[in-house]
Amino acid sequence: MSTSIIILAAGQGKRMNSAKPKVLQPLAGRPMLQHVIDISRSVGADDICVVYGHGGDDVRAAFTHEDIRWALQAEQNGTGHAVQQAMPETPDGNHVLVLYGDGPLLRTSTLQNLLSSCGENEVALLTVEMDDPFGYGRIIRENGAVMKSVEEKDADDEQKAIKEINTGVICCSADKLKAWLGDLNNDNSQGEYYLTDVVGMAVADGIVVHGVITDDQAETMGINDRRQLAEAERALQKRLVDQLMDQGVTFADPDRVDIRGNLSCGTDVFIDVNAIFEGDVSLGDNVKVESNNVIRDSQVGSGTLIRPNCHIDGATTGSDCTIGPFARLRPGAELSNNVGIGNYVEIKKSTIAAGSKVNHLSYIGDSIVGRDVNIGAGTITCNYDGLNKHQTIIGDGTFIGSGVELVAPVEIGKGATIGAGSTISRPAPAGKLTLERTKQVTVVSWKAPTKRK
Ligand code: UD1
Ligand code: CA
Repeated sequence: MSTSIIILAAGQGKRMNSAKPKVLQPLAGRPMLQHVIDISRSVGADDICVVYGHGGDDVRAAFTHEDIRWALQAEQNGTGHAVQQAMPETPDGNHVLVLYGDGPLLRTSTLQNLLSSCGENEVALLTVEMDDPFGYGRIIRENGAVMKSVEEKDADDEQKAIKEINTGVICCSADKLKAWLGDLNNDNSQGEYYLTDVVGMAVADGIVVHGVITDDQAETMGINDRRQLAEAERALQKRLVDQLMDQGVTFADPDRVDIRGNLSCGTDVFIDVNAIFEGDVSLGDNVKVESNNVIRDSQVGSGTLIRPNCHIDGATTGSDCTIGPFARLRPGAELSNNVGIGNYVEIKKSTIAAGSKVNHLSYIGDSIVGRDVNIGAGTITCNYDGLNKHQTIIGDGTFIGSGVELVAPVEIGKGATIGAGSTISRPAPAGKLTLERTKQVTVVSWKAPTKRK
């Protein structure tokens, strides 16, 4: 049977106190709703429909890359009303699985289990025992069988004491669901059409309702406020870090790392505290990331050491490089093997060939740097004339002295030596010493200034 997944994402999320629609709040670097869409894909849904409403344009605009259906719920009259908006386009013969846009931690295996326990003409409901069930719908069972789900706000004291709660995830056939939704009323404390009332209706129709209990409270949490958002973030981080540890990565402290995107690691990678990974980052075998590093959309070659406090964005390194401390690699920084980038060095849109070193206080931008080059402390490529960027080419084996300004466009020939303090704006020939300096003078008549009375 084909599965349609309906994701409810029309609510404002008042409890978030944000100008941003709740489902766009970021979790592990991606909007909450993106996680729910990814989970939907992971169970192989043929058809994904997102019910949107509050902040509608922003929500749709954030997912133009996704092949999904959208159903508008112009007024948020409850979760049942929301599902109804998605039903006209949902094929009758399909199974429907309803997910909530604010439930991004569900695991694929849990959903697969729920789907497989739901027979053709049955209903399956995902439930969990919560230590603190406050705010959730409670599951009412009789002799073990699920009878209905009662919202916190409609529950009496006895029902409020029940710890088994409705996660909101429900599965049943599309045609049955259409019929039940058509019979919903809003005769409850919130004046809303509750999807959860479908449970009682199914029972009244003699349909089997499976209450499938998961034992993982974290995966079923609904995110309504910033505290829950923070809690969900940590839960997701723990999951990501656990996976990496299983693959052979060592974390100095698994609680002090943040992965906001996809981090792939070779074997025996070591990650010290306060490392933040954003976007797509890959670390080769034996890479060591020391403390306080931010690494975004970059590939780091095997054996490379990243010392503390670097910012690495859109860069690639070969193997056995040493970066930092306090280095900044900007987009287009491409380092070959055995390259050394030291403290207070910024590299942008430049290739640096094997064995070259830029160890102290330099800016290298729009440059091609050859092999085994040594760039002295404080050397800068002057790549910008105020309007355009220009290129600097530094040949293999050159030695650039300290405090040199290379005014681009300019080329330094292979094996050249540039004297310290030079401002080089014309080609420097290969194998020769080039320098540009005024002659050193000592002013004999000079007197040290004295304090005025
Ligand atoms: C809902 C369930 C509750 C369950 C809990 C699990 C109902 C009536 N209650 O409560 O039993 O324990 O989730 O987290 O279903 N939404 C719409 N349109 C609407 C209303 C809501 O799209 O008109 C969306 C929201 O954007 C959200 C989801 O549905 O993604 C859940 O809505 P929310 O208001 O958070 O429901 P809860 O009160 O948490
Ligand atoms: Ca909720």
